[in-house]
Amino acid sequence: MVSQSTKYDHLFKNVIPNTIEGIRIFGKNDNYTKPQDYDNVLNLENRIWADLFQNLEFLLDQYSSREYLLGLRSLPIPNNMFPDFEAISPLIENSTGWTLISVAGFLDEELFFDINKKRQFPVTDIIRQSPRFAEKYAGIDIKNDEGYTPEPDIFHDIQGHIPFLMNKKYADFMWEIGSLGDEILKDERGLGPDLVAHNLKRLQNFAWWTYEFGLIKNTGDTDSFRRVANDMDYEICGAGIISSLDEVTNVVKCAKGESSRSKFLPYNIEEMIMTCFDYSNIQDRYYVISSMDSLYESFRANQRLFWFEG
Ligand SMILES: [Fe+2]
Repeated sequence: MVSQSTKYDHLFKNVIPNTIEGIRIFGKNDNYTKPQDYDNVLNLENRIWADLFQNLEFLLDQYSSREYLLGLRSLPIPNNMFPDFEAISPLIENSTGWTLISVAGFLDEELFFDINKKRQFPVTDIIRQSPRFAEKYAGIDIKNDEGYTPEPDIFHDIQGHIPFLMNKKYADFMWEIGSLGDEILKDERGLGPDLVAHNLKRLQNFAWWTYEFGLIKNTGDTDSFRRVANDMDYEICGAGIISSLDEVTNVVKCAKGESSRSKFLPYNIEEMIMTCFDYSNIQDRYYVISSMDSLYESFRANQRLFWFEG
């Protein structure tokens, strides 16, 4: 595990304590894989999945990005029961070379980036609000209501992230982030543990404000993919928003001027990488990219930002 605080922390803005104490974090020396026990999924768990999915289905049809909608429609991700990892994984592999790897819980950075570098995406088979979730996190203060996204959770992992991995450019972008994280951690430039941890936090902030909680400008070009036209200025591309009814509702309300809880900020990579986040609540800001291509280009053109040398 990379140390949580470094002497460079004062450079970050919006620093909010964001560790959840007591959660087991798996590393590469642990037995971190855990096959999905698909035959023993409870009716109750399928019911939770169905409620979560169906409450979001039409909102996402109207407001999520094109990449998401096309991916979702081409994968066996049911709206009424748990998805079967073994049915999904080969289809993603055919499209973009990524596969799903079923894991036991949170992974440390080293393992996470190492897995991503192999084009594997870690997914968990436990769902929020279920007895298995309660048992696993007993005694831990982790948010666990139906509207929010506690990670890791099968709904966030599969419904939120996986459809995007059917898109080649997006899948390559995810691979580049994983590879950069892996390179930073290996510290072949000899920066030392503090700078490694600091640069990793920059990369985690970047990931957070883009593929977890990012928005795209709505140009109106994607309405042909929707049953109902998108009537706000943004499309949702962040998986953390997509898998949370509360977060989607918050984005829509703020975009329509019905709430001022969160603000919309223009994409600014230098600002985003230095902006920390709180993962235990609705986000106070969303960064808006002009297109997915511009996001990929910006990431490639600004690699130096993740090699801060102090
Ligand atoms: Fe996520």
